[in-house]
Amino acid sequence: MKKIRVAVLYGGRSGEHEVALRSAASVINNLDRSRYEIVPIGIDKNGKWHGAGPELLQAKTVSLPIYRNLPEVTLPPNPSASESGLVAMPSSAGNAPAVAGGNSTPFDVVFPVMHGTNGEDGTIQGLLELGEVAYVGCGVLASAVGMDKDVAKRLIAAAGLPVVPSLTIRLGEWTSGKANFLARMEKELGLPCFVKPANSGSSVGVHKVKTREDFAAAVEDAFRFDLKVLVEKAISAREIELSVLENGEYGKPPLVSIAGEVNATHEFYSYEAKYLDENGAELLIPAKITPEQLKEAQAIARKAFETLECEGLARCDLFLDKVSGKFYFNEVNTLPGFTSISMYPKMWEASGLPYSELLTKLIDLALARQARKQALVRDFTKG
Ligand SMILES: Nc1ncnc2c1ncn2[C@@H]1O[C@H](COP(=O)(O)OP(=O)(O)OP(=O)(O)O)[C@@H](O)[C@H]1O
Ligand SMILES: [Mg+2]
Repeated sequence: MKKIRVAVLYGGRSGEHEVALRSAASVINNLDRSRYEIVPIGIDKNGKWHGAGPELLQAKTVSLPIYRNLPEVTLPPNPSASESGLVAMPSSAGNAPAVAGGNSTPFDVVFPVMHGTNGEDGTIQGLLELGEVAYVGCGVLASAVGMDKDVAKRLIAAAGLPVVPSLTIRLGEWTSGKANFLARMEKELGLPCFVKPANSGSSVGVHKVKTREDFAAAVEDAFRFDLKVLVEKAISAREIELSVLENGEYGKPPLVSIAGEVNATHEFYSYEAKYLDENGAELLIPAKITPEQLKEAQAIARKAFETLECEGLARCDLFLDKVSGKFYFNEVNTLPGFTSISMYPKMWEASGLPYSELLTKLIDLALARQARKQALVRDFTKG
C-alpha cells in the first residue's frame, strides 16, 4: 500500500507558537508510520515556511523545532504551479533552492497544527483552499466564526443554546461611548464581569472586572489585542470541555467524547494558569458530573458543532453554573491543543479512541471532504 503523505504544518505567527510546537511533536509521534509518510513544514514566528525535508523526525521530541536550515517554501494559490504541493521561494541570492522531491514536494493532505491567530481563524484554511489541497479540520467559515466569540455566541443563541449575557463593543464606538457602555454593563450584566477581546486565545487580554473604576482600563487593555471586545456577565462556573469529531459516515451527527473538567487554581483560567504556573489548573477526566449532566453537555456540544458548521474536529468548552446547575456554551476551539496531555486527545482516549486512531480518522475525514469538493461544478460556462 502506498503511504499517504501528510504535511504537518506547524508553529505559526501566534502567541501560541510554542504550544503548537509541542502539539506538532505529539502529532508526529502518534501518526501511524505504517500508513503515513510525514512531511514537516515549520512556520517560524516571522511567518516563513521551512520545509520540507525528508523524514527528519527519528528521535521523539516533546517540542518539534522549526528546521530553519530547510529551504523556504510556499503553497501557491495556483495549484497548477506545482504538483499539488509546495514551491521553493527564491533565496536572497535570487535562485530557488532545491526542495526535496524536485521543485515541488507533493503531499496528499495537510495537518495544520497551529493555534489561535493565523492558525485556527480561517486564514491558513483560506490559503489551503486556494492551493486546493486536502486539510484536516474546520474550513474557512467555521474556523473564522469559532475564533470570533461575538459572532459564535450570536449563532449559538439563535440555535436556542444557552449563552452568558454579554455586550459587544467596537473600537470605533468606544472612545465616544465610554460612559454609555459603563452604564449598560452595570444595568445589563452587573459586576463582576469579564472583559475579553472577541478574537483571542490563551486568555490573553481577558480580565475579571470587580469594580466600575476598573472597567475602562480592562476594555482598553482588551482593545490592544482586537478591534472588538466582549463584556460578559461573570458566572461562578465549573469549566467543562468535550471533544467533538465529525462522523465518518457523511451526514450523520458528530461524535462527542465524555466530558473533562478544568479546575483553575487561580481566580480564573488565565494565561498564567494555562502556561506559566505548573499547578495552575487541575485537569479531570472524566469530569465529575452526573450521567444526566453529561448527556446534556454532549447534546450542547453536538449542536454547537453543527450550528457553527464545524468539520473534522472541535473542542467545545462549556460553563456549568455552580449556583443554578445550568450549562452555558463558552466557545469552540477548532484546532485545540494536541500535546500528549491536552484535553482534546485525552478525552478521546478516555472515550475509547486512542490518539493514533484519532489522527487516522481526522486524515480520512480530510481526504473524504476534498473528494466531495472536487466533485462540485466550478465552471458554469461548460453546459
Ligand atoms: N463569563 C465568564 N464567567 C466566568 N468565567 C469566565 C467568563 N468568561 C471567561 N471566564 C474565564 O476566563 C477564561 C478565559 O476565557 P475564554 O475561554 O472566553 O477565552 P480564551 O480562553 O482566551 O479563549 P481560548 O480558549 O480560545 O484560548 C475561561 O476559561 C474562564 O476561566
Ligand atoms: Mg477558553
